[in-house]
Amino acid sequence: MDSFYRRPEVRAAYQAYVDKRELESFDHPFERKVVEYLAATRPRDVLEVGCGSGRLFRTFRRAGFGGRYTGTDVAGWLLADCRRRHPDARWIAATAYQIPLVDGACDVCFSYAVIESLVYPEKALGEMIRVVKPGGRLALLFPDFVESGHLGSQQAGLSPGRATAKLARGQWVDAALTWFDERIRIPRALRRARQRLGPFPVNLAPLALDHPAVTLPDYDAVYLSSKADVEDWASARGVPVEYPLGRHLPVALRAKSWTFLVITRT
Ligand SMILES: C[S@@+](CC[C@H](N)C(=O)[O-])C[C@H]1O[C@@H](n2cnc3c(N)ncnc32)[C@H](O)[C@@H]1O
Repeated sequence: MDSFYRRPEVRAAYQAYVDKRELESFDHPFERKVVEYLAATRPRDVLEVGCGSGRLFRTFRRAGFGGRYTGTDVAGWLLADCRRRHPDARWIAATAYQIPLVDGACDVCFSYAVIESLVYPEKALGEMIRVVKPGGRLALLFPDFVESGHLGSQQAGLSPGRATAKLARGQWVDAALTWFDERIRIPRALRRARQRLGPFPVNLAPLALDHPAVTLPDYDAVYLSSKADVEDWASARGVPVEYPLGRHLPVALRAKSWTFLVITRT
């Protein structure tokens, strides 16, 4: 996955797909609510892990956040651009597995649409909580694949793509198998993965590796992300988990199957 995220030529289609969200970032009810919630805690130091092109930094500024912001990502070339555009923030090329900051460096550490891209999510969680000050917050935003039964990185049918597109092309068999996989095989496999493999199970063959230009939602996901894993992880460490917008998000936030949870460092 590292070579997928670090190489501009491989992730060009993916990056264009992620950047499309920039246009609606502040107007999207979910993103706006999350950023307004975090900004209202009046953090002095915010760290974003997996900041990509820095779109959430811009959303934070628009929400009135005037404190110090540090963005980290493995894609050094994106951060060079962030540095040019936003010299008022700090941009560090680093992996979530080894954040080059001292313990307790920030009031809020957040990570949006990243944990599901990680082969070692537990290791990243440990690093992210390490750099939060006692009393500070670690905020995670990720899709709950297990609960939703969807996993865009697992091929459904005989080729990548949606059943409707296959039907429109007259690929009846492929469309029928896609429907079966999406409705029955994949949801069942997701439900069983945790029982069979334990917490933080990983999909070893995400579509993005074989088909980098396909850009289906979450086609790069490796970790079969679920609230249950993170809740158990936090409870084993005695740190509380909260859902400021509800454990299941209201429909009006237009973030079906997403999770926004906050862990307070004790
Ligand atoms: C879906 S993008 C989200 C970017 C940004 N958070 C946003 O919402 O626009 C996932 C990001 O995670 C980064 N990433 C992947 N693996 C990482 C790792 N091990 N450490 C840090 N960042 C990573 C990718 O380079 C990519 O920019």
